[in-house]
Amino acid sequence: MSVASQAIPFAPYREFSNDALCERITDAKRKLGSSLLILGHHYQQDEVIEHADLTGDSYQLSKMAADSLDCRYIVFCGVHFMAETADILANREEKLVARDGISIPVVLPDMAAGCSMADMAAIRQVESAWKQLSEVIDTEDMTPVTYINSAASLKAFCGRHNGIVCTSSNAKAVLDWAFAKRKRVFFFPDQHLGRNTSLKMGITNDQMPIWNPHEEVLGGNTKESIEQSRVVLWKGHCSVHQMFQAEHVHSFRKRIDGIKILVHPECPQEVNDIADISGSTSKIIETVRAAPAGTKWAIGTELHLVNRLKKEHPEQEIHFLSPLVCMCATMYRIDLAHLCWSVENLVNGTVVNQIKVKEDIAKWSLVALERMLTVSK
Ligand code: 13P
Ligand code: SF4
Repeated sequence: MSVASQAIPFAPYREFSNDALCERITDAKRKLGSSLLILGHHYQQDEVIEHADLTGDSYQLSKMAADSLDCRYIVFCGVHFMAETADILANREEKLVARDGISIPVVLPDMAAGCSMADMAAIRQVESAWKQLSEVIDTEDMTPVTYINSAASLKAFCGRHNGIVCTSSNAKAVLDWAFAKRKRVFFFPDQHLGRNTSLKMGITNDQMPIWNPHEEVLGGNTKESIEQSRVVLWKGHCSVHQMFQAEHVHSFRKRIDGIKILVHPECPQEVNDIADISGSTSKIIETVRAAPAGTKWAIGTELHLVNRLKKEHPEQEIHFLSPLVCMCATMYRIDLAHLCWSVENLVNGTVVNQIKVKEDIAKWSLVALERMLTVSK
């Protein structure tokens, strides 16, 4: 395995047609055989997802990385935090022992594929918030919970402070776990997932102050509101799901008789409260698959997934919930050219764009991730 500086240059890949790129990827996959595992998140564009060996939501993809044994490379068609999680889980001690010490490089085809929500919480801000909280309440009685859409350093913070990771598919189980142990939760970075999940558990908005990391004192809260809190919500959101609004739901219900509203829990409370069903990307897919022909849907999640569902289910009537284009620009950075470039480099024994989490951060992140995997079993 050689270093990335000897990599095939990316530039010529822009010139290839999609057909040519597809042929080259297929050829590289054939040469690499079972040593290569391509994982694809549901928001990836169709032409990329076609090359994925396995697809899933964030939780399922974590499990796939955690269970991987035979492959020697993982190429992650998703975003940065997902590739970090795959590196931590695929290269944990027990996996290294099972593979006679061989570690698996995790490749993110385009390093610019980040997540704007994950970028809304930096570790120094979380540490400063925790310190300020500890001056007002007993943080020994508070569980930090990070949504998986966060940097590994935040997962490590949760690992060190008896906390845990959650995904959109297990947030309720994770909060149940947290409340069975302690009185309060500090939930970051997605206020909407934290709020929507907590509301379903009977926690009210006045028990959920919002922590604004840009406010100097107590995240913009009073001492009393922190003392009365059950869940402190970080002021972060997904810029894609934030665009769905209650008026879009009302408009569909007015126009289409019997329409069902299906949304992701990263949507704001006003949308989530009036939707028929809310769930992870996999739950959205399974719900549509299980519905009888003729079912009418307006779906509030990333555009590529909704368009794929429309194509796969012509027997149902599927609409995109927003009149605007809500697509994840960073997921979209992974294209055929980047995928082709990464896998052809692997054929030549060169790993480009490897995501490697620092040892100490990986160790503590794993603690929080393993708690989540145990809770979700
Ligand atoms: P899922 O875990 O539901 O796939 O969500 C991931 C994500 O980034 C949603 O914006
Ligand atoms: Fe992040 Fe939103 Fe994109 Fe999901 S859809 S990866 S939360 S920016």
